[in-house]
Amino acid sequence: MPKPATIAIDGPVAVGKSVIGSLLAQRLGYRFLDTGAMYRALTWLALELGVDLEDEKALEELALGASIELAAEGVMVGGRDVSLDIRREEVERGVSLVAKVGGVRRALVAKQRQMAQGGQVVVAGRDIGTVVLPHAELKLYLVASAEERARRRHLELVQRGQEANYEQVLAELKRRDKIDSERVLAPLQPAPDAKVIDTDELNIEQVLAEIMGIIGGC
Ligand code: DC
Repeated sequence: MPKPATIAIDGPVAVGKSVIGSLLAQRLGYRFLDTGAMYRALTWLALELGVDLEDEKALEELALGASIELAAEGVMVGGRDVSLDIRREEVERGVSLVAKVGGVRRALVAKQRQMAQGGQVVVAGRDIGTVVLPHAELKLYLVASAEERARRRHLELVQRGQEANYEQVLAELKRRDKIDSERVLAPLQPAPDAKVIDTDELNIEQVLAEIMGIIGGC
């Protein structure tokens, strides 16, 4: 059986899309595209340039003109590696505002489709199976409870040496879930033909094993 050429992985904040997606891509010898990093990179650039995050026109222009690349060495904006900057708190706080602007989504979705052309790619995001690549051969939708996702994100922050309070992490995660799922454009939701995987009780290896099982049966 041929492997699916294009694999979409969607799901909420901190469900493990990036970790699972990049490991899966490695295992299959595919490229991995983390589309969330593109929305983050644009948010970082807007903050850097002092663009008001409520100014939709300015954000759209920025998205159309910005050079955002998902390179093997990291996330590049205008040739600068911003992989660490885009994980900063102010980006985290602002990114949902930027991601709900129609013009921004149009510009970034066009780039994402271009990057996914040719297949052999795992693409992670919120709207990959529904909007960006509705014809992806395999669509996965990862879920986990807000509490479990907050526990994982909190642990990740602590391991990185950052100060973190579990209750705050949980509240922030719920705030972003709400904006991502209630926005008018491309709200977070599984495609009708997506395979939903509940990762609450599963570790990374177990999730990967489940996905490899699905691919084996494709
Ligand atoms: O996956 P992440 O946390 O890095 O995503 C950052 C933000 O970008 C998040 O608020 C949702 C948004 N996003 C989106 O709207 N569409 C995507 N395809 C990927 C991310």
